[in-house]
Amino acid sequence: MVTARIAVLPGDGVGEEITRAAIAVLDAVAARGGHSFSYSFGKIGGAAIDAHGTALNDETLADCGQSAAILLGAVGGPKWDDPRASVRPEQGLLRIRKELGLYANLRPVRLFSALVDASPLRRQIVEGTDLLVVRELTGGLYFGKPSERRDGPHGREAVDTLAYDETEVRRVVRAACRLAQGRRKHLTSVDKQNVLATSRLWREVAIEVAAEFADVTVEHMLVDTAAMRLVRQPTSFDVIVTENTFGDILTDEASMLAGSMGLLPSASLGDGELGLYEPIHGSAPSHAGKDDINPIAMILSAAMLLRYSLDLDAEARSIEASVQRTLDDGFRTYDIMGAGDGRHKVGTQAMAREIASRLG
Ligand SMILES: NC(=O)c1ccc[n+]([C@@H]2O[C@H](COP(=O)([O-])OP(=O)(O)OC[C@H]3O[C@@H](n4cnc5c(N)ncnc54)[C@H](O)[C@@H]3O)[C@@H](O)[C@H]2O)c1
Repeated sequence: MVTARIAVLPGDGVGEEITRAAIAVLDAVAARGGHSFSYSFGKIGGAAIDAHGTALNDETLADCGQSAAILLGAVGGPKWDDPRASVRPEQGLLRIRKELGLYANLRPVRLFSALVDASPLRRQIVEGTDLLVVRELTGGLYFGKPSERRDGPHGREAVDTLAYDETEVRRVVRAACRLAQGRRKHLTSVDKQNVLATSRLWREVAIEVAAEFADVTVEHMLVDTAAMRLVRQPTSFDVIVTENTFGDILTDEASMLAGSMGLLPSASLGDGELGLYEPIHGSAPSHAGKDDINPIAMILSAAMLLRYSLDLDAEARSIEASVQRTLDDGFRTYDIMGAGDGRHKVGTQAMAREIASRLG
């Protein structure tokens, strides 16, 4: 029996609805397995800006750091959209990842057989896709200094800095190798070593780390080739590891394989058990309060929480199998209604109830 306190940061837009749906499924898991999960709620993103003037305050961050895991909805919305504003919702995300040392972002992309038709790619190409992208999350371009706009001799100019040290590369490639060991033991390390010095370091360190994992086959691929291969032969990938910016772009590309943003979970992990779990989609403000958004991405994120932060792998698999059964039984939210044998159109909370009722 596991007792755990989970920090819940619903954020903005549909965040409250999807976190509520995930908690309903977590509670059903707890009731079946005799576990006890409690939840402490905090604000992040626009909601935190409105309440505290900052996208994530110190108290909420401290509470998250002391919890077993963090469940996060999504942040952002038109009210806080001005890109020149000094306080912006996504600063909350960057801060929590950086300060809690959550350097490895895991994004599994698995195509549910009931939804093969939802993919924009042909069935022959996409069927059987089951890959995991591990993106470095706390280094690279999004954090390098200087990052600024200034006046130069030719007018306005701007600079961003791409920097990595070997420790940052080693830990995320090592994490990816360990994840590959638990899967099909194939790792693709993605870089741009023909052009970038950081990529040459990345490849050098990745080769050193790979030598520690004799049972994992490691290949190295340029990011442009990887982008092509993802749409031409997605089933050739098992685990992909890459730096922050390449990972940001490749994960969005890979997410399209599954057919809807509403299906894809993510986990951000560091060296300890603490992890942050969130869907890959945003706060979908136009759907807020309508009870129509697909909660599956958030519910599968909760399954990852059970697996990686609470060591409850059987319970995680039970949620994943239950999602599969619910889809096989024809239940669909609006975004996937046209895919496969969709017979029952349901809203957010009803989908969560269907999934909870099918837990093994
Ligand atoms: N991690 C995050 O919190 C995160 C990520 C991306 C975008 N955002 C923010 O979210 C806000 C809205 O961004 P956006 O509209 O570009 O992207 P979005 O992902 O919020 O939504 C785009 C569209 O995708 C569809 N969609 C997304 N999630 C869905 C789900 N679970 N079920 C069904 N359909 C779904 C909806 O049609 C929605 O209108 C912006 O403020 C943006 O900055 C936040």
